[in-house]
Amino acid sequence: MLPDCIVIVGAGQAAAHAADTLRRKGFAGKLTIVGDEPWLPYQRPPLSKKYLAGAMERERLLLRPAQFYETRSVDVRLRRRVERISRSEQRVRLDDGSTLPYDALLIATGCRPRPLGVPGVDLEGVHYLRTLTDVERLRAGMSAGTRLVIVGGGYIGLEVAATARQLGLDVTVLELADRLMSRVVSPQVSAFYATEHGHRGVRIVCNAKVRALEAGRGARRVCTVVTEDGARYPADVVVIGVGVQPADELASAAGLACENGIVVDDRCRTSDPAIYAAGDCTSHPSAHYGRRLRLESVDNAVEQAASAALNLLGIDTVHDKVPWFWSDQYDLKLIIVGIGQGCDSVVLRGDPASRAFSCCYLQGGELCAIDTVNRAQDQMAGRKLIAARAHPDLDKLADPNVPLRETC
Ligand code: APR
Repeated sequence: MLPDCIVIVGAGQAAAHAADTLRRKGFAGKLTIVGDEPWLPYQRPPLSKKYLAGAMERERLLLRPAQFYETRSVDVRLRRRVERISRSEQRVRLDDGSTLPYDALLIATGCRPRPLGVPGVDLEGVHYLRTLTDVERLRAGMSAGTRLVIVGGGYIGLEVAATARQLGLDVTVLELADRLMSRVVSPQVSAFYATEHGHRGVRIVCNAKVRALEAGRGARRVCTVVTEDGARYPADVVVIGVGVQPADELASAAGLACENGIVVDDRCRTSDPAIYAAGDCTSHPSAHYGRRLRLESVDNAVEQAASAALNLLGIDTVHDKVPWFWSDQYDLKLIIVGIGQGCDSVVLRGDPASRAFSCCYLQGGELCAIDTVNRAQDQMAGRKLIAARAHPDLDKLADPNVPLRETC
């Protein structure tokens, strides 16, 4: 039976896209979005880039204007948390004590920053970066000459480093692993980014384990970051970007299957047939990669939201696309297509010194992922070859003058 009343928990990218899809596909029932932030759904990617740099208006972050929700009769409850899901009664309880009944529930609660478990993380001047509110606070403390220490050399850390250098801050990145962005890219790409940041004056320290953040005597504001080897890094501001974890507590408390995120099937259904989930908070099966994935990306939020919305309306839709991700740092556009982890070989296309190259990841000769840096022409072709499980000729693959689509 199709639902008359749908509640979406979370008000991020997946929520906005699901609401849009539901209305576009003719859902005329009651539709409510509940989100704990004070803003309508907005884009997060600019938060560590243009918005942090002060080069983008807040209004432009919004995915849809307020009027969009009004004209489509989407009841958006902001500054409200869903505290409990009662599956037996098919209703959710909000933090103001009110309840909302549902025929179908879509959980799109996203991720939250992984806390850095060391003394001093609650000092003034220490920031995580996930929400618009986080970035407004951080921005207020960023002016030329400020000493910024970033803990974590992943997407957030490096994008903030690039933005901060452009604003004239003194920037140090402390990374726990032996190279940058090790979760997502090969050593070759890590080395390239370390060089680029180094050229722009960012101090990169790998194998750095933070022991504590310290304030000056009698003060509440951070002034030093101390690492396990005893090194001390002076800091006016600290940004922590050491990864994220799925916001799946609500689902887990309701007894839904969760394991590294809310477990969903390829149609975004959870272990309860009335409850769907989409976006960063889910763990979903990938037929292509033959295992479960939890992806942190706009692309995945949008794809899963669309699939969940269509399935909610009885339009059978499998979610199984080759994922992609991007990161902008300085004038470098990194686009990652597919999942390269676990591959057995890597082939470079082009010389990193030229600042335009790709890195191809293979498993048993099959192309499973490709990173492109300022080489957008490899992106679309790469996506098609990955989806087709192509086995490229390695010599052609290594020749940047041979178009990627002609390497098979
Ligand atoms: N000290 C220093 N570095 C650490 C520590 C630590 N204690 N723990 C982890 N790290 C490093 C990891 O080795 C990794 O390089 O922090 C980095 C975290 O990088 P990501 O996993 O890319 O996470 P983050 O940069 O926080 O970005 C989180 O936000 O931009 C979005 O969706 C995007 O997935 C991304 C998410």
